[in-house]
Amino acid sequence: MSDNRLDHVVRSVVGAVREAVVEEQVTFEEYRAAIGYMMKIAEAGELPLFIDVFMNSTIVDVINRGSHPEASPSDMEGPYFVEGVPHVDGTIKTMDAYKDDEPLVVRGYVKDVSGTALPDVTLDIWSSTPDGKYGGIHDGIPKDYYRGKIKTDENGYFQVKTTVPVPYQIPHSGPVGAMMDMMGRHTWRPAHVHVKIREDGYRELITQLYFEGDPYVGSDCCEGIVPPEFVFPRRVEDGKRIIETTLKIEPLAEVPEAA
Ligand SMILES: [Fe+2]
Repeated sequence: MSDNRLDHVVRSVVGAVREAVVEEQVTFEEYRAAIGYMMKIAEAGELPLFIDVFMNSTIVDVINRGSHPEASPSDMEGPYFVEGVPHVDGTIKTMDAYKDDEPLVVRGYVKDVSGTALPDVTLDIWSSTPDGKYGGIHDGIPKDYYRGKIKTDENGYFQVKTTVPVPYQIPHSGPVGAMMDMMGRHTWRPAHVHVKIREDGYRELITQLYFEGDPYVGSDCCEGIVPPEFVFPRRVEDGKRIIETTLKIEPLAEVPEAA
């Protein structure tokens, strides 16, 4: 067997596709149509979207299978992470136009896999506006709105205020959206809050926090992981929705060796 990883992975992927083509008895017309549609997707600049919709959750699955059993589950990063946003002092900037929208407090602890709280750890938190847009991405919304960095205190505790995000559709006006429509699928993601933790000596954790009762939490269009421990029941304190969680990250030395 080849020790060239690229050759090995490509052989494996192509082999699986060939098996599917045989299994489904794909016709030459269907094969030609598939090539034509792939060209259309590429020409529309939607190849990253196409691959993300169908494969990102699988890559996340690979990460989770290789993670320490006590580590928090990883989830998709999605296309709307922005690097270099400022630290916030407990409150993420939200737009005045939405000032009456339901506030959300995300709080909890960052711990290692043995349960030790970790002080001075930076979390990136980002989520949609109350109409499903992202700061720094859509409609000229500044990049420091609906996203920010926050640090855990000396007890490993963090707390940040924002507004409740909403379910939103992935870009659906191009060929990928049309393809999902033809497949009888919808293009909605459940409402979620993105979290990314990067701490020296620990494996990066990228995950998402969800809301129980969300109409799409059981049918994410991206076939997402939606870890059950990160689907939070409705809880309100002083008029604010609360998400309270513990995020556990694993030291790099404890990452299992690849088989
Ligand atoms: Fe998102």
